[in-house]
Amino acid sequence: MENLNGEQQHKPVLLTEVLEALSIVDDGIYIDCTFGRGGHARAILEQLGQAGRVIAIDRDPEAILAGKALEAEDSRFTIEQGAFSVLKDVAERQDVSGKVNGILFDLGVSSPQLDDAERGFSFMHEGPLDMRMDPSHAISAAEWIARTSERDMVQVFSEYGEAPFSKRIAKAIVEARHETPFETTKQLADLISAVSPKQGKPGQKVIHPATRVFQAIRICVNDELGEVKKVLEQVTNVLGPKGRLAVISFHSLEDRLIKRFIKKAAVGDNFPAGLPIPTSMLNPTLKMVGKLIKAGKEELQHNPRSRSAVLRVAEKMA
Ligand SMILES: C[S@@+](CC[C@H](N)C(=O)[O-])C[C@H]1O[C@@H](n2cnc3c(N)ncnc32)[C@H](O)[C@@H]1O
Repeated sequence: MENLNGEQQHKPVLLTEVLEALSIVDDGIYIDCTFGRGGHARAILEQLGQAGRVIAIDRDPEAILAGKALEAEDSRFTIEQGAFSVLKDVAERQDVSGKVNGILFDLGVSSPQLDDAERGFSFMHEGPLDMRMDPSHAISAAEWIARTSERDMVQVFSEYGEAPFSKRIAKAIVEARHETPFETTKQLADLISAVSPKQGKPGQKVIHPATRVFQAIRICVNDELGEVKKVLEQVTNVLGPKGRLAVISFHSLEDRLIKRFIKKAAVGDNFPAGLPIPTSMLNPTLKMVGKLIKAGKEELQHNPRSRSAVLRVAEKMA
C-alpha cells in the first residue's frame, strides 16, 4: 500500500502486542524512540486521553518530516531528531525524566528507507551506496567500503552479518576497489554474487548472498549496536515506577543485548558469587514481563517484516 507521497507504507509490526506490553494508561507519557512513519506512535495516541503524551525520536530526516506533520495535527505529540542515545537529554528537555509510563524501540530500518533506492539500503534497488539513517552524519557505505581494511571488513561481515564467505568477499572488494570505487548498491551486490558460491539445491529458496553483507555494513555505518548499548543505560532512569520497556529487534545480535540487559537488571547488584546476600538487598531495577513474543500466524501472512521480529518487555520496579 502506498501513502500520499507515493512511498510504501510501513506496517507496524507486533502492534497489538506492543500496545498490550506498554499497558497504556489514559494520561500516560510514552516515548517512541524509533518513530519511522509513526505506526506505533499513532496507535498509542489513539488509546490516550487528552492529558496523555507521546514523545518521539528518529534520526532520519524523512521520518522527522512525517513526525512534524503529526505534531501539527495533535498537540499531545512531539518529535525530536537525533540518534536515540539522546533519550536522557530528550526526556530532561521535555521534563518527563523519571515519569515515563512506557518506552518503545522498534529497531532497524523502516520500509520507506528500504524501498527508496536513493537511500542505498537495499541491493534490490540500484542507487547510491549510502545506508545512513541520518545522511548528515558519519560516513556513507561507499566511503566505508573505500576506507576499511580487508581484515576489518572480514570482521564486520562475519560479526554483524554472520555472512558466509566473508573472507572471500572482503578480498574481492579490496581488489576491485583499486580499479573502480564502489558507488552503487548494484555494483556491490553484483560483485558479492559473482564471488559467492551458489548455495542450496536446484529449486530450493536461498537468500541473496548480498543480504547479510548489506546488513553488516548498515549496522556498522549506523553504529546500530553501539546505539542500543548506550540507550539501554538510560532507560531505567527515564522510566517512572512500574513504567514499561518494550523492544522489538530483528536480529540475534540486538536481541542478545536486550535479553542480557533485562536479565541483569532483573537480578540486581552484582555481588561476588557465594556471598550470603538476601534477595531483598540486591536492588533489581527491572522485572521481566512474560516471555519472548513473536508474530502470530495472521501477521506473518500479511507482513513479511514480522518474520524475524521478537519483542521483549520489562517493567521498572515500583
Ligand atoms: C523499524 S522503523 C520504525 C517503524 C515505526 N515503529 C512505525 O510504525 O512506523 C525504525 C526507525 O527507527 C529509526 N532508527 C533506527 N535506529 C535509530 C537510532 N539509533 N536512533 C534514532 N532513530 C533510529 C530509523 O530511522 C527508522 O525510522
